[in-house]
Amino acid sequence: MAVTDYQLIQAWTQVLTLSKVQPGNVVSILTSDYTHPQTLRTAQTALAAMGAIATQILLPPVNGEKSHSRDLVSYLGVTPLSGNRAAIAALKASDLVLDLMTLLFSPEQHEILAHGTRILLAVEPPEVLCRMVPTLQDKDRVVAATRRLQQAKVMRVESAAGTMLECPLGEFPAISEYGFVDEPGRWDHWPSGFTLTWPNELQSQGRIVLDKGDILLPQKHYVSEPITITVENGYATRIEGGVDADLLNDYMEAFDDPEAYALAHIGWGLQPRARWSTLGLYDREAHIGMDARAFEGNFLFSLGPNNEAGGNRTTACHIDIPLRHCTVSLDGEVVVERGRVVDAARGA
Ligand SMILES: [Fe+2]
Repeated sequence: MAVTDYQLIQAWTQVLTLSKVQPGNVVSILTSDYTHPQTLRTAQTALAAMGAIATQILLPPVNGEKSHSRDLVSYLGVTPLSGNRAAIAALKASDLVLDLMTLLFSPEQHEILAHGTRILLAVEPPEVLCRMVPTLQDKDRVVAATRRLQQAKVMRVESAAGTMLECPLGEFPAISEYGFVDEPGRWDHWPSGFTLTWPNELQSQGRIVLDKGDILLPQKHYVSEPITITVENGYATRIEGGVDADLLNDYMEAFDDPEAYALAHIGWGLQPRARWSTLGLYDREAHIGMDARAFEGNFLFSLGPNNEAGGNRTTACHIDIPLRHCTVSLDGEVVVERGRVVDAARGA
């Protein structure tokens, strides 16, 4: 169902207030042909009401002819900003960038953040934004979990379906996604609500079993039969099962890139307003699946790049996989028990 402009302006006002927007701040709104018009106009109204100086930057879409899906994070690498020195200069000169386009996993994004500019990505449909307006409580919960993750030397993940994964940690930082940008150089995504890190390079071992009902992104598909992913020395070396495994293998093979199979970010969902079941209610092209990534108690892992965390791996392929019913432990301490966040990890 639709939301009113008034509701979305209220939501933007909360997000922008949490993001410490002040009168006179310079804010760039990054847009493309597919940017949702209601999200754009309500952001402009909220910024004007707060006394910010806003500029819309409209860039052409890229990668459409290469990607096999219309999902905005299904093909990474070249972005609409690549080589556009004028747009990059404008963004670096901004206090805040509202990314209504999807500038994810790009060197340009790193360059802008390193300048101190804050970037907030917001591309989910307006009603999803309104359902998951971030709060300070969201931040507290995620930051507490991230603090715990940052200290850990090893993450173990197990499930009744057969997952048995061990990931040594320490090479890469732990990152909080809580939905607003309240520090210089911070990137975040509205809506979100999870903690994540990357395992040490070439060290993860074990197997991950996707059970019925677990989700593949960007496929936006509930798995209908188990998929077993064997992880050896940090890479998925075999992806086996029935037709769902065949579909995943065929999709990934099309990238023709061995780095696509690297184990990438790992973490768990902490957003109680995100739901596992939402994916089944939406057209696949209407959203990018943040409910699936953030629902509380999931184990979310990824195959693909680690350049977001300061690593060297770039690949156009990026698969996110949230699993239900997993037990996640850090150095032997359980933080998610069979799909439920334990209170200490919740930080509540
Ligand atoms: Fe991801």
